[in-house]
Amino acid sequence: MKIIPLEEKYRQPVTDLLNYSILNEWAAFPENPVPTGIFDILLDLAKGYPAVALLEADGSFVGFGMLHAFRQVSVFRTTAELTYFLCPDHRRKGFGTQMLQYFESEAHRMGITTFIASICDKNEPSIEFHKRMGFTQQGHLPNIGIRRGQSFGIVYMQKDIGEACEKK
Ligand SMILES: CC(C)(COP(=O)(O)OP(=O)(O)OC[C@H]1O[C@@H](n2cnc3c(N)ncnc32)[C@H](O)[C@@H]1OP(=O)(O)O)[C@@H](O)C(=O)NCCC(=O)NCCS
Repeated sequence: MKIIPLEEKYRQPVTDLLNYSILNEWAAFPENPVPTGIFDILLDLAKGYPAVALLEADGSFVGFGMLHAFRQVSVFRTTAELTYFLCPDHRRKGFGTQMLQYFESEAHRMGITTFIASICDKNEPSIEFHKRMGFTQQGHLPNIGIRRGQSFGIVYMQKDIGEACEKK
């Protein structure tokens, strides 16, 4: 697998993947398909953090992922939130594990010590993935959203990935 910076040429595959997820599963929150402008919103969200495309050795698109601020306030600078989506045919093959390992090493370089994943409580595969990756559930806000007539909540999962680099 290759991990490269998320470039303009992945605008359409990223949008298509998000729209697959919006229409078929509980991984993305929007109710309706999104236009390609979502790509700019994602890059803006991840400004200053790694945002990457995952490719097979032959260059075919596997998925994308990024770190972004947990809150846009400096006191939370050692905490980052994760977002990633893999194409359905490329799941459960270890790509997600490799991507998370990549983000952990990038995070160490940046002085980030805590990862947060906020996950729809109906997205069992993601909850299982994060448990397996060493995340623990720290909070659950049930029934705070309604999507296509079904209520859902958000589970917060956390992983401490390193020593705090700033001394008190
Ligand atoms: C969540 C996601 C990134 C995981 O990536 P992945 O490449 O499929 O995961 P891996 O193959 O590295 O799986 C590692 C382990 O996580 C667990 N796991 C992963 N997918 C799982 C699933 N569908 N059900 C149960 N456990 C799962 C397993 O323990 C797995 O190890 P195993 O295959 O040896 O049993 C990927 O499935 C995905 O993109 N899903 C849709 C989008 C999404 O939910 N994104 C996260 C939003 S919060």
